[in-house]
Amino acid sequence: MSLVELRDVIKRHGQHTVLNGVSLIVEKGETVAIIGRSGAGKSTVLRCVNGLEPIQGGTVCVDDTVVNDPGTDLRQLRQHVGIVFQSFNLFPHLSVEKNITLAPNVMKGVPPTEARRLAEAVLRKVGLPGKIDAYPDLLSVGQQQCVAIARSLAMSPQLLLLDDPELVGEARNVLEALARDGMTMMLVTHEIGFVRKVANRVMFMHQGKIWEQGPAAATLTRPRTPELETFLSAVLH
Ligand SMILES: Nc1ncnc2c1ncn2[C@@H]1O[C@H](COP(=O)(O)OP(=O)(O)OP(=O)(O)O)[C@@H](O)[C@H]1O
Ligand SMILES: [Mg+2]
Repeated sequence: MSLVELRDVIKRHGQHTVLNGVSLIVEKGETVAIIGRSGAGKSTVLRCVNGLEPIQGGTVCVDDTVVNDPGTDLRQLRQHVGIVFQSFNLFPHLSVEKNITLAPNVMKGVPPTEARRLAEAVLRKVGLPGKIDAYPDLLSVGQQQCVAIARSLAMSPQLLLLDDPELVGEARNVLEALARDGMTMMLVTHEIGFVRKVANRVMFMHQGKIWEQGPAAATLTRPRTPELETFLSAVLH
């Protein structure tokens, strides 16, 4: 069953066409990696999925909700779609617990005691059960990334969007485990080695299009287009 479906999506910034007819499907439980050169439109695709970008053509559907329909409640949608940005942006002045429970509390009205239990549960999932009262600054970068992932998980997302997270340490294993456990993910990354480990499918973007896609191992080993071949030889050397 498909969870995400983009059909002929057009996105322009002024005269510049950033997405030039993007069509893609992500099935439930799949981890899809999106790769491609800087400016290819990778982040824009994720932002469209989450309704952060108005589009000029086509449709974006997440779990049968038409994201680009003006009547769609994007707040509601974002409760089911977690997004982990490159910078992770934890709040430095808030404890790990507060970082994790803020959204469940504000968006879903989860009361404090239940929220703390929820924080404990998601911290166990990411291997940081003892850090609930710590502040982000005292954690390693990898641990901060795990907290950011835990924060997304606290909203029980159906879909996780990760924009070039440059994961370090344990955070890589956490993401691999999530993928294995059947979390649906769209991961933008330039780390091809990690793509091989974590992704079921690869989409290569070029000039605002999905230029080539297929099963991860085959697509990375035997690219069918010269553009992907060139891209891979540039990033692998
Ligand atoms: N707000 C904006 N105004 C004008 N152009 C924009 C805007 N946001 C993005 N773009 C352009 O859209 C194109 C695609 O951007 P996008 O951020 O999706 O690329 P990307 O594939 O994620 O690149 P990178 O690997 O560098 O993150 C780029 O050419 C970028 O300059
Ligand atoms: Mg980007």
